[in-house]
Amino acid sequence: MKTLITGASSGIGYELAKIMSNEGHELILVARRKDRLEELKKQLKTKTKIIQMDLSDIKNAEKLYSLLKKENVEILVNNAGFGLNGKFIETDMAAEMEMIDLNVKTLVILSKLFSKDMVKKGSGKIMNVASVAGFIPGPYMNIYYSTKAFVLSFSEALAEELSGSGVTVTVLCPGMTKTEFDKVAKIKNGMFKYGMSAEKVAMLGYKAMMKGKRIEITGCMNKLSVCLRKFVPRCLMTRIVAKIQSV
Ligand SMILES: NC(=O)c1ccc[n+]([C@@H]2O[C@H](COP(=O)([O-])OP(=O)(O)OC[C@H]3O[C@@H](n4cnc5c(N)ncnc54)[C@H](OP(=O)(O)O)[C@@H]3O)[C@@H](O)[C@H]2O)c1
Repeated sequence: MKTLITGASSGIGYELAKIMSNEGHELILVARRKDRLEELKKQLKTKTKIIQMDLSDIKNAEKLYSLLKKENVEILVNNAGFGLNGKFIETDMAAEMEMIDLNVKTLVILSKLFSKDMVKKGSGKIMNVASVAGFIPGPYMNIYYSTKAFVLSFSEALAEELSGSGVTVTVLCPGMTKTEFDKVAKIKNGMFKYGMSAEKVAMLGYKAMMKGKRIEITGCMNKLSVCLRKFVPRCLMTRIVAKIQSV
């Protein structure tokens, strides 16, 4: 199956590419760091095309679709994303606008353009990478948590709209995962070393997507924390997150 993965140069996207190649998928991999994508391509067993592109420029999302329109993409994985830790009144607004463009707008544009073709064909799969952060407000990473709340809600609603069309939508909600995420987000609490491996998270996401499952929350602790949220007042949950992430 021809599969497009955004953000395949490291972390979860990188591991997804390896898993999907082992499973026989033909791949199209997108990220800004071409050297990383080339190094990954050498390790893969299946036909792989790499595209160097900055997807925080939303014009590039449409450009990417135009480039691939005739390629019959059967699976779309919207994985590229980043976060930023800090006080809202101090964090860089330009970086946060880029985050909204990448985590939200590009994901919506690619979902819309590719899902239209998939529905016409009567088959296809989309996996959007949200986060357990999508379930709660996130002081000191406010914009990131808010983007992931959008991705979660958007994906669940789209899954419902497309049910019966032959196209499934899966939203992957990892908790802390050992990738480059914390370094990029300038998170200094050192907690990510206790996170799940990117390989495990990618495998859980892959299996859920292939089954057409709507939501995959990775790992028992993350499932439990999402479940507990229903019994703990939202303002208390928000205060706990603030304690963990305060700068
Ligand atoms: N790690 C966690 O704890 C965690 C938890 C929940 C959810 N997530 C989500 O999982 C997804 C993958 O993140 P990760 O943890 O694997 O982090 P990562 O190792 O930093 O990987 C992020 C990927 O996104 C790509 N990317 C970033 N900005 C981009 C841009 N402007 N244009 C194109 N590609 C871009 C990066 O490639 P280049 O830098 O080469 O462009 C990289 O391949 C993200 O959506 C993240 O929010 C992560």
